Amino acid sequence: MATVTYDQATRVYPGSETPAVDRLDIDIEDGEFLVLVGPSGCGKSTSLRMLAGLEDVNEGSIRIGERDVTHLPPKDRDIAMVFQNYALYPHMTVADNMGFALKIAGVPKTEIRQKVEDAAKILDLTEYLGRKPKALSGGQRQRVAMGRAIVREPQVFLMDEPLSNLDAKLRVQTRTQIAGLQRRLGITTVYVTHDQVEALTMGDRVAVLKDGLLQQVDTPRQMYDRPANLFVAGFIGSPAMNLVEVPIADGGVKFGNSVVPVERDALKAASDKGDTTVTVGVRPEHFEVAGGSGLEKESTAGLEVTVNVVEELGADGYVYGTCDIGGEQRDLVVRVPGRDVPEKGSTLNVVPRGGETHVFSTSTGERLSD
Ligand SMILES: Nc1ncnc2c1ncn2[C@@H]1O[C@H](COP(=O)(O)OP(=O)(O)O)[C@@H](O)[C@H]1O
Ligand SMILES: [Mg+2]
Repeated sequence: MATVTYDQATRVYPGSETPAVDRLDIDIEDGEFLVLVGPSGCGKSTSLRMLAGLEDVNEGSIRIGERDVTHLPPKDRDIAMVFQNYALYPHMTVADNMGFALKIAGVPKTEIRQKVEDAAKILDLTEYLGRKPKALSGGQRQRVAMGRAIVREPQVFLMDEPLSNLDAKLRVQTRTQIAGLQRRLGITTVYVTHDQVEALTMGDRVAVLKDGLLQQVDTPRQMYDRPANLFVAGFIGSPAMNLVEVPIADGGVKFGNSVVPVERDALKAASDKGDTTVTVGVRPEHFEVAGGSGLEKESTAGLEVTVNVVEELGADGYVYGTCDIGGEQRDLVVRVPGRDVPEKGSTLNVVPRGGETHVFSTSTGERLSD
């Protein structure tokens, strides 16, 4: 077991001007499950491959425990990697697939057998050890790929979108299995995904990348409750946080017909930059709603939202609507109770719930509220 440290680690691909990964700084704890997440092309795989030794580090360094591994070949790093395309050897049995790396390393046969059987037990694969991959389901194949990594008892697991070949339902089951397995084994894990739900549900902490730059590293709770900037605010959470640019008013911000109170310090920070507006973030579940069919009390407070589409999910409904903000039509998503959804074409008046607004600088995107 070991910690993992990215220390200002940078990768510039030959022929490229801009780094694919730019001065990445993360301290990963011993036994931690860290998820790297971000949109396609943000540098997730490159970061992982730098740790694996499959990609050069041009500046900075990477440590596993106390060892500086920056220039070590992959085989000397004591890591095991599970890829998206975890191609199993089709002509080998599950047991041989799982034990292959150990065989190459010259581990005695009986010892390999023992390790493979132990891993198979953990992964619920015991009865399939004699089968060929083609006689397995997608989920079972994925577990064999995990098994290949487990038998090596590495200090660090690296996983690059290992669930993306599975269908949606299996992906949800498997992510719980992997997270549970990692916790039982206690092996430090760096896991890459572009799926923010996967990141939030699996990670002890989540690191968000954009254009090769680390945006925030935090627990899923903190990431959701206190996104550090507009990018993270819009990326984490589904449906996404509503982000609207609104004028600064006395003691708050002007939100349609209402002045919504926000922290003085946040407003001062904005006006110190010379901004007359801030960008306010409100999650769909953080609006007080009035009006619409079935929903009580008439109100003209806040923003008037015209309902375009209602997505009914049983427990909840999401209203996709438009509203007028400063003369411009803007989209807004509002969560409503599942048994109390408004009609398409009706209007709702919405106001952010007290204490549930996020204030960002319109000019720099950074978080201004506490
Ligand atoms: N072998 C390579 N040579 C040149 N550029 C690359 C190479 N691999 C990736 N890139 C570029 O580096 C950036 C980050 O890529 P990658 O780490 O694969 O992103 P992600 O895994 O987040 O989708 C992208 O702009 C990509 O085009
Ligand atoms: Mg990738």
